Amino acid sequence: MYDSGKILTGLLIFALLVTFPVWYHLGRATPPPEPDLDTPVIAGLAEKECIESTEYMRAYHMELLKTWRDLAVRSGEKTYVARDGEKYPISLEDTCLKCHSNKSRFCDQCHNYLGVDPNCWNCHVAPEEGNR
Ligand code: HEC
Ligand code: HEC
Ligand code: HEC
Repeated sequence: MYDSGKILTGLLIFALLVTFPVWYHLGRATPPPEPDLDTPVIAGLAEKECIESTEYMRAYHMELLKTWRDLAVRSGEKTYVARDGEKYPISLEDTCLKCHSNKSRFCDQCHNYLGVDPNCWNCHVAPEEGNR
């Protein structure tokens, strides 16, 4: 014979699982994260600027990174010249993450909020963050 108690429990668990995305998001009315710029290298900059304008970086850093990869891997290019003439080594780890050494509170926080999960860190090495 079937045990109606078990069936009910099963149904209840099923209902919770199916509706999980709904109530999970209801409870998550958190504001978007403020990208955290508190790193030793950024603190030492005379001008708190990225390699391109903040608006450009916000909207196009993924394209920029992909261009960098192609430049480095396909053309052996080592230097990027920004629009203001400033030169930077083409390197995810040694350039972006030198300033943004707080990857978990900068890159990850923003990506997690938006549900983006770049696979770069399968191969590239993120800096040790310690307790900062
Ligand atoms: C399967 C492994 C792998 C993945 C995944 C990967 N890369 Fe790379 N990437 C490499 C290798 C290998 C090089 C060449 C390193 C070299 O030439 O020293 C490279 C080089 C680069 C470079 C230029 C040089 C450097 O050291 O930064 C950039 C920029 C870059 N990748 C960006 C990315 C980004 C952005 C992602 C995620 C969207 C990504 N990569 C994902 C393996 C990978
Ligand atoms: C010289 C240090 C430095 C380097 C190198 C650097 N950044 Fe930045 N980045 C900054 C600073 C400082 C800001 C904040 C600018 C502001 O507040 O207007 C910033 C802002 C940003 C933003 C916008 C954040 C927001 O508020 O929306 C993104 C995205 C970003 N950087 C990604 C990158 C990536 C990707 C790289 C490598 C291709 C990189 N940065 C290299 C210093 C740097
Ligand atoms: C202000 C928020 C914000 C910050 C800070 C930020 N990103 Fe992003 N990133 C995004 C958004 C939004 C996308 C997805 C855009 C899309 O899907 O078209 C993205 C996408 C990417 C992608 C492409 C992913 C893919 O699979 O195509 C890479 C690579 C990337 N970010 C690297 C970085 C790195 C490295 C940092 C830190 C240095 C960083 N991002 C910081 C918002 C941010």
